[in-house]
Amino acid sequence: MFPEPSLSLLETTIEPHLKMPTMTDLDHAELTYRDQKYSLPVIEGSEGELGIDIGNLRRDSGLITMDPGFVNTGSCKSAITFVNGEKGILRYRGYAIEDLAQHSSFLEVAWLLLFGELPSTGELEAFDQDVTLHSMLHEDFQRLFGAFPKDAHPMPTLASALGALSTFYDEPNTDLEIRQGIVRLIAKMPTIAACSYKHSIGQPAIYPRNDLDYTQNFLHMMFSTPCEEYEVDPVVARVLDLLLILHADHEQNCSTSTVRLVGSSQAHLFASIASGVFALWGPLHGGANQKVIEMLEEIARGGGSAREFLERAKKKDDTTRLMGFGHRVYKSYDPRAKILKGACQDVLSRMGGSSQLLDIAMELEEITLEDDYFISRRLYPNVDFYSGVIYKALGIPTPMFTVMFALGRLPGWIAQWLEMRNSPEFRIGRPRQVYVGEPLRQIEKPV
Ligand code: SDX
Repeated sequence: MFPEPSLSLLETTIEPHLKMPTMTDLDHAELTYRDQKYSLPVIEGSEGELGIDIGNLRRDSGLITMDPGFVNTGSCKSAITFVNGEKGILRYRGYAIEDLAQHSSFLEVAWLLLFGELPSTGELEAFDQDVTLHSMLHEDFQRLFGAFPKDAHPMPTLASALGALSTFYDEPNTDLEIRQGIVRLIAKMPTIAACSYKHSIGQPAIYPRNDLDYTQNFLHMMFSTPCEEYEVDPVVARVLDLLLILHADHEQNCSTSTVRLVGSSQAHLFASIASGVFALWGPLHGGANQKVIEMLEEIARGGGSAREFLERAKKKDDTTRLMGFGHRVYKSYDPRAKILKGACQDVLSRMGGSSQLLDIAMELEEITLEDDYFISRRLYPNVDFYSGVIYKALGIPTPMFTVMFALGRLPGWIAQWLEMRNSPEFRIGRPRQVYVGEPLRQIEKPV
């Protein structure tokens, strides 16, 4: 095993605080099919959300439900994140995202998501120390990075390196091993991300420093060189910390559902997280933040006609989409986008970057808020719409934008994986289907 400092993490129970809804006086839904009536229990969550429990539907009726894209299907009960898409509400363990963005650090929020409560001063210090002391990578990783093409996108590099991490550490099973695994992931992911970036620009890897905090260390590893130490601007580090907080969890989105499904086979924690990174890479999901900037730059190059671009995005036969707009759950303004829009202006005024892309983004938003196509479909800016403008102003290279999303989402993925593995309802995920292919037929040998 790779020799690493021991954990000073205080004795913290890993058991997430899963508050199961009271199941005493259950409400019921009734399904009538071909004169047969089926009574289906209805559960109510702590925020009044209702779900029909169809756990015995196939056994009792032979029926299954169909819901492509799981638009109406709940996969689990969870106590981690609450989203109300109609009201634009996002809370981690009951705390409003606006409060956490204003008052907390990313490591505090990571602890909250993982263990259910905000950390005490002692817990945070211990966690911070553990993360700092586990940020190094085994030197063999440099050979792994060297095997990738120089122009490799950093997301598959990141996911591959996370998968490779599981070859250095056995599957964490005991409480202590899981805590070690959590610390290793949170500590080493920024190092992996920075190393993959350095490899892509032909520069040597820069090792983490123990005297810097989480985001300062990442910026150091990204932008220092052997010839010159990068001077970390505390404002930049704080904005990066805010971005990580805003991305830290978002209930059962595509990549989190992927992490849960892979983890449900009892696959290695690191392999489950690597699968989440691959899912996040898609342009309809986390990959949208890179596409937003490319879209804004395309509009800027074309003379900046936001209105023309929007007309294309509305056409059925045109594959153009207004990236960073729309959301499966938010049918109102994504609260994260609201916070990021405000941060954009602060960062640009501080960093002195060009506000042309921000101006185009705000013009696009302004037009959509009065355009029936977007209003009728309740399409608003999502978390990806303004984040890229900030990453660009901070000097983060565009291909690294989705890696930044993954860095933020990591504690959420781990917390959801833990909750799934600790749930009294834990079982391997295995959806059903309705077969629509060929009926039984025989092989007919040519005569
Ligand atoms: C993230 O789930 C999460 O929580 C994700 C996330 C997280 O924190 O984990 O919030 C992060 O992934 C944010 C989303 C980032 N993706 C994008 O910005 C890509 C652009 N947006 C879309 O592709 C779309 O809005 C989705 C993928 C986000 C949501 O897709 P849905 O829920 O399946 O909605 P849909 O594709 O069925 O769209 C409904 C209608 C369609 O028109 P009609 O068929 O009714 O005529 O709205 C249209 C769509 O064509 N539409 C858009 C649009 N998004 C939806 N039209 C133009 N531009 C868009 N961006």
